[in-house]
Amino acid sequence: MTFRIKSLIAGSALFAVLAATAVKAEEITYVSGAVGNDLEIFKQIVKPWEEKTGNKVTLVPMPASTTDQFGQYRLWLAAGNSDIDVYQTDVIWAPQLADQFVDLKDAAKDVIKDHFPSIIESQTVNGKLAALPYFTDAPALYYRKDLLEKYGKQPPKTWDEMAAIAKEIQDKEREGGNKDMWGFVFQGNAYEGLTCDALEWVKSHGGGQIVEPDGTVSINNEKAVKALETAKSWVGSISPDGSLAYQEEDTRGIWQKGNAVFMRNWPYAYALGNGEDSAVKGKFETVALPSGGEGGQSAATLGGWNVAVSKYSKHQEAAISLALYLSGPEAQKMNALLASHLPTLQALYDDPEIKEKQPIIPQWKEVFLNAVPRPSAPTKGKYNEVSSKFWSAVHDTLSGKGTAAENLEVLQADLEELKGSGW
Ligand code: GLC
Repeated sequence: MTFRIKSLIAGSALFAVLAATAVKAEEITYVSGAVGNDLEIFKQIVKPWEEKTGNKVTLVPMPASTTDQFGQYRLWLAAGNSDIDVYQTDVIWAPQLADQFVDLKDAAKDVIKDHFPSIIESQTVNGKLAALPYFTDAPALYYRKDLLEKYGKQPPKTWDEMAAIAKEIQDKEREGGNKDMWGFVFQGNAYEGLTCDALEWVKSHGGGQIVEPDGTVSINNEKAVKALETAKSWVGSISPDGSLAYQEEDTRGIWQKGNAVFMRNWPYAYALGNGEDSAVKGKFETVALPSGGEGGQSAATLGGWNVAVSKYSKHQEAAISLALYLSGPEAQKMNALLASHLPTLQALYDDPEIKEKQPIIPQWKEVFLNAVPRPSAPTKGKYNEVSSKFWSAVHDTLSGKGTAAENLEVLQADLEELKGSGW
């Protein structure tokens, strides 16, 4: 073959590849909120997919608060916005937004079995798979191992033990010169995060889960009252007054500067806490959240994020391919290693590299499998209202606007009324 013919063939082969790429290449718009360095990590995770398919992902960052994201997404979806192809969705949203998303059941039929069934179930609404899991979430009690050792303490099993240890170490550390030390940081802002924290307080005291799986409104009970009173007693004592405005990242900021003995947070704070710029690198461990003592048990709220394809997307094939990639093993493993996010793929819990680099992940398998779901399934389209009434009642209680008993009595009546109007 002459050189000319060879280069002609090579040239036309190259042209064919370029033409195919040109025809196929699509730009997918992905919206996502984020904590920590999730957005940078997302760009790394998505790169292999971009290279493989020739498509490009444009990431539109949203506020960290899931409540703010939900408000915006609901508006976009209601308006049939076709600029957004893929939404990163909170585990609680499926029943409220499923109608606006593509059913992913067929596209994912070969891989559904690889995920934990309960997570697939949480994203299935009337038989429709509204989103594919990206990572799951269940919080931990982070504790300063060095400080507990210094003062001869064991990690607490009950909230009262936690508060006592927190107070003692906080006071002694302050006396020793660390004026900024606090005992416990948690998420007390009036938003979905407070629903998560407070559900844990209530459930761990044996006070139910706000609305039970059968739809019964159960929040007005003595154990729930006790749980909220206990939490109120922390504010200004072991927890900063500012707690009433804190979201996840505010608490992580205090913790990572070395200014808290305990922190309630999700597993993402594990990788970051062990980062080079962290004052607590190598100085902390995690345990299950405390129980409410007698009759109580440790309770962790089930969180997690998923990937949903908009019904209004004009690039559905590529968007579905991206959703499948993000819920697949390559992406989930990267997310586990880089951000200590819990995979939803069962096999990754036995992955030796994950075990070695992010030990919280295999340790947290049982915690998330036993985690308490928020009542998004029984309250369906009304979940957001239920949750916002709950977090408002809790926020009022923590800020001293009414007692726990008064606020929960009103909440019970409000939720029953909401239920009466149909959820
Ligand atoms: C975490 C959880 C999510 C929850 C949110 C509350 O991101 O994964 O499910 O709604 O925290 O702030």
